[in-house]
Parts: sequence; structure tokens; C-alpha cells
Amino acid sequence: MSSILGRAAILVEPGTPAVVEDIEIESPGPGEVMIQLAASGVCHTDLTIKNLKGNGMPFPIVLGHEGSGWVEQVGEGVTHLVKGDPVVIAYRAPCEQCPACRRGDPRHCYAALKPKQRIHRKKDGALCSQVLRCGTFSTHTVVHSKAAIKMPKEMPLEKACLIACGVVTGVGATCNTTQVWPGARVAVIGCGGVGLSVIQGARLAHASMIIAVDVNPTKLTWAKQYGATHVVNAKDGDPVAAVRALTEDGWDGGVEFSYEATGIPACIEQAVKMLSYNGTATTIGFPATSDSVNLNLGDMSTGVYWNKAGLRVCHAGDTLPSHDFPLLAQYYLNGQLNLDGMVTREITLNDVEAAFHEMETGDVIRSVIRM
Ligand SMILES: NC(=O)c1ccc[n+]([C@@H]2O[C@H](COP(=O)([O-])OP(=O)(O)OC[C@H]3O[C@@H](n4cnc5c(N)ncnc54)[C@H](O)[C@@H]3O)[C@@H](O)[C@H]2O)c1
Ligand SMILES: [Zn+2]
Ligand SMILES: [Zn+2]
Repeated sequence: MSSILGRAAILVEPGTPAVVEDIEIESPGPGEVMIQLAASGVCHTDLTIKNLKGNGMPFPIVLGHEGSGWVEQVGEGVTHLVKGDPVVIAYRAPCEQCPACRRGDPRHCYAALKPKQRIHRKKDGALCSQVLRCGTFSTHTVVHSKAAIKMPKEMPLEKACLIACGVVTGVGATCNTTQVWPGARVAVIGCGGVGLSVIQGARLAHASMIIAVDVNPTKLTWAKQYGATHVVNAKDGDPVAAVRALTEDGWDGGVEFSYEATGIPACIEQAVKMLSYNGTATTIGFPATSDSVNLNLGDMSTGVYWNKAGLRVCHAGDTLPSHDFPLLAQYYLNGQLNLDGMVTREITLNDVEAAFHEMETGDVIRSVIRM
């Protein structure tokens, strides 16, 4: 086996902190590419996977799924990429085989392309799982060539990495999972990397009201900078009542579109209850296997039946990466999408645990690992 050496932040076993270890990366097989990572955002999903003891993935696990870098090697048959191309890695590139892909609806692909795992721990050769088929807390990874999306040369890769998850998920929730129309009223619960991207998507869609809900006042200050027209601190009282009061229009108020970006089931219930008639709530947060929600049907004002509420689930913004990633990069380069402010910390591979801690306790939008 031909291979190169690198380093990665790895979960070795359930319940222990991530550690940086030497790895050996196999050369890419047919249709695959090896990426030398430039940067990776630290998304809450990496922390959730750690907290859920791998969420079913075998250990050891290379963390990270919000990565950008350069093509280092191309496998047999890859003609659309060459060494040195700047790319962002897509964890949901359409599989081309599932029922949705076969009927020409790749945004709703059931599965995503699954490359062969090619990262081994150096000391014992153990084959590593890679979070969401990526493993971007690493100097190198191997992915399917169709999951490596070429970036414009002028796009800074330490910003571009955010497109891979947080940004495409949040913006995509507003234009793919649901279609926010000009003038619509929008509420966003949770204003981290994903929620602020929902806010940016709603702004790009010309929503008339964008109500940001969080429990952290700093996040709410930032939310205004990203386009929120109103903010609600959920610690100050019932956010459903606050959103309904802000939107009172003689028809019981409520928003046409609400988004949950916290991973907290109670926030999904709030998102549904703050809808106007026929509105749509979208849940984005990553659930534990045992999580469930309790939705009232019969309340005349907020019940799912009488309010004719819709509930959607957003996976990665229902993205078609080959189309969406270059478009989002263009929005950034045109000044329409703020990525600069979202990188609140630049860190190294050794700082993953500190970044997890800050995500839970501190004022951080995204920590970005520079390799
Ligand atoms: N579906 C997908 O494709 C997808 C993609 C990316 C992330 N996620 C998930 O989305 C969620 C958000 O990710 P993130 O990276 O933005 O996380 P984050 O930690 O950056 O942000 C979460 C935000 O929620 C706020 N919050 C916490 N409790 C709250 C409450 N009770 N009410 C209101 N706000 C509250 C926090 O203060 C924080 O600002 C996570 O569960 C993550 O795993 C899902
Ligand atoms: Zn993510
Ligand atoms: Zn598919």
C-alpha cells in the first residue's frame, strides 16, 4: 500500500477527550482524491458525536466535517481535478443511485457518496472512521472526487471551509428545505454558526422580519449584525409568547418560517408553536437516538391541527454541493455573505477540546483549525 504520513485529532474510545495522533493515509483509489487540508471549522455536530460516544461509528474516529484544502493526489479516472486545486469537501454529495437521485432529485439524496476509509492510526494500523465520511481535523483525508468541490482561486480557504457545513446548512434551510419569500416573517432559535447562517439566508431572501432567539446576549448582538431585525433572549421568558407578540397582526401573529438550530428538542416544540397559520418549522439540530418531541394538535391558536403547521427536517441545507458551494463562495466574494466575522477563533489541531469547551460556554461562532 502506498501511503503518506500525517496527523489528526482522533476520538480513541467512548468518553475520552480527542487526542492528536500520527496517521497513515492510503493513496486514493479509483474516483477518489486525497486532500491536504488547509482549514476546518469546528461544528457542534463533532461535539455531539463525541458526547454520544461515537453515535454508532466504530472507534477510532477522526473528527471534523467542515473542511477545505488542496487536491494532493488524484485517483484513477479522475479528470476534473488536478493537484493543487482548492476545494471544499462536501459530506452530502449525491450518491447517484438512490430513489431520489434516480428520479433526478439529487438535493434529496437518501445516502450521499461513501468513499472507502483510507486513514489508519500509525501506531497500530487501526482503520479510522471519519465523521460524516470526511475526517477534516486532519492534515490529510481521502474523499470521493465528486465530494471535492472546486473553489474560485481568490476564495480564502480558511473562510471557505465554513461553507461545507454551517453555512450551507443555514442558508440552504431558507432556500432549499423551505423557500422563504420576500416579505416573509422568520424566527431562528439558536444563533451559533448554523443559526447565524439561517439569518443570513433569510436576509438574502428579503424576509421582512427576522427574529433571533438565543440564551446568550452576545449571540443576539451578533445576530443583529448578520441581519436579525428583532432579538429575543429565551432566558427572559417564553420565546413563543415573545415571537407572537412581536408579530401580532390581528391574526394571532406568528412567523411563516421558523428554524430550530440548537439540538434541543424543546426548541423544536417552540419552533412549531411560533408559526402563523400554514407556516413551516424546520428542525436542524442533531438529535440523540432517544430524543422525541411532544406536539400539541388541538390548541386553537398554536396546535399543529388548527394552525395547519408544517414540520421539515434539514440535512445540510438540502444541498447540491456542485451548484451551491461555488455560489456561496461567489456571495462571499461579492460581499453578500459574511464569513469573515464567523471565524471568531483560529486554532491548531491541539486545541479541539478547548474549542468544544468554548462552544458550550463561550462567545464563539466558529473556531477554525488551521492545519
Ligand atoms: N442538520 C444538519 O445538517 C446540521 C448541520 C450542522 C449542524 N447541525 C446541528 O445544528 C445544531 C447547531 O449547530 P451549531 O454548530 O450552530 O451549534 P452552536 O453551538 O454554534 O450554536 C448553538 C446555539 O444555540 C444556543 N442555545 C442553546 N440553548 C438554547 C435555548 N434553549 N434556546 C435558544 N438558543 C439556545 C446557544 O447559545 C448557541 O448560540 C447542533 O445540534 C448541530 O449538531 C445540524
Ligand atoms: Zn456540521
Ligand atoms: Zn442518492
